[in-house]
Amino acid sequence: MAEWMAEQGAHHLILTSRTPLPPREQWERLGKSGSRQGFQVEVLRRLESRGVTIRVAAVDVTDEAAMRSLLGDLTNEGWPPIRGVFHAAGQADAQPLGAVRTQRLAEVMGPKVTGGWVLHQLLQRERLDFFVCCSSGAAILPSALMGVYAAASSFPVALAHYRRAAGLPALTVNWGFWEQTANLSPALREIGPGIIPAGMRPFTGGQGLAALQQLLEQGAVNTAVMPVDLREWQRQHPGANQSSLLANLRLTEGIADEATLATDEPDAASPRAALEAAAPEARRELAERYLRERISRVLRIAPEKLDAQQSLNSLGIDSLMAVELRNHVQAQLGVTIPLARLLQDPTIAQLAQVVLDQVGSVAPPPSALPSAFAMSAPTPAGPAPVSTADSTGNASTPEALADVQDLSDEEVDALLRQMLSEEEQQA
Ligand SMILES: NC(=O)c1ccc[n+]([C@@H]2O[C@H](COP(=O)([O-])OP(=O)(O)OC[C@H]3O[C@@H](n4cnc5c(N)ncnc54)[C@H](OP(=O)(O)O)[C@@H]3O)[C@@H](O)[C@H]2O)c1
Repeated sequence: MAEWMAEQGAHHLILTSRTPLPPREQWERLGKSGSRQGFQVEVLRRLESRGVTIRVAAVDVTDEAAMRSLLGDLTNEGWPPIRGVFHAAGQADAQPLGAVRTQRLAEVMGPKVTGGWVLHQLLQRERLDFFVCCSSGAAILPSALMGVYAAASSFPVALAHYRRAAGLPALTVNWGFWEQTANLSPALREIGPGIIPAGMRPFTGGQGLAALQQLLEQGAVNTAVMPVDLREWQRQHPGANQSSLLANLRLTEGIADEATLATDEPDAASPRAALEAAAPEARRELAERYLRERISRVLRIAPEKLDAQQSLNSLGIDSLMAVELRNHVQAQLGVTIPLARLLQDPTIAQLAQVVLDQVGSVAPPPSALPSAFAMSAPTPAGPAPVSTADSTGNASTPEALADVQDLSDEEVDALLRQMLSEEEQQA
């Protein structure tokens, strides 16, 4: 971005982050190291060679006093007034919500929330040409394990609208995955390639910057830039299909005329058939493997990393994901996991037992998907109406389940309680 700004004609750049740059005498060695700082040094040298004056400052953007002091120093040193801001400070994070500690929450929220606000406060009287904040696709499309990052990434979106409402320049971009940064960002490298949700594709620096230029020229306030194969993404995240955002995207993608989509498994009945055909002593292993595989898809991690003795909560499965898992099991195995059991936070091994108790005693699922899983064409008025009778002919699942993504936490709780009491009555 710094190089892009120079290409656009910027002669003075102030580049900040908390980590100080090593002294200049070490630059030669660093430049060849292939490290993150080596990359930064290379960029600085290229910028200097094209005549750009650069000030590199080690400062925490959440520290208002330090930021104010930096701005004061720049004025005293005769720097020209600031004309534009790129707020790219951020801290990627991926872990189950239940595992997040207060300190980590503050670390992830800090640069995006406090940092964004500090920059807004300190520069709101400057005549800026642009104020660009980097948000993430995680703030829009649900992504398991990224709850805190999603929350942090939502703030710059609100900030852009807030500034625009006040007549100030603002653009917040919900970025997908920049191809080159995945290797340079220690946080992203640690999280690993599994962080890219199925169906999403990275884009090159050139593509990202071209999009940025277009958005600035258009005067956009908030736009997402992420190449997504919606068909694949929707297959992998069936619950999210019900969101009103995706209903609109499906229309624009021209796949709305498709009445239904198959599941991600070409032969949805095969897990059931495999279970029934297996020798009794092999069935438990098979049921556990099936559940590990299903859960690994929800969490986007390798099935081998899941321990059958871990409970759903400790794996990061929240109640929405659990209901989605239950629906899949029902659709593919014809097995109904009682909600009461699901809410008791079972382990994978315990869920496998529930499956084994029922396989053999319940009719297999119909070859067609139950309608709760069919991705129907949205009507112009909103997401498609979804019938909720399940494969056992049990009509207990309330209609609201199909729209569960749109519900508040309280509504989900109420819905789960209602379903639970219906199940108890039937029992
Ligand atoms: N790369 C992607 O594909 C991608 C996708 C979606 C969104 N984004 C967003 O785009 C932005 C840039 O991404 P990136 O991949 O370049 O991230 P990155 O490599 O992790 O760099 C983030 C930068 O922010 C700095 N930083 C973090 N906390 C700070 C603080 N409190 N004060 C000052 N500087 C701070 C870091 O340096 P120090 O640690 O030295 O302070 C680092 O230079 C981030 O906001 C990220 O959330 C990136």
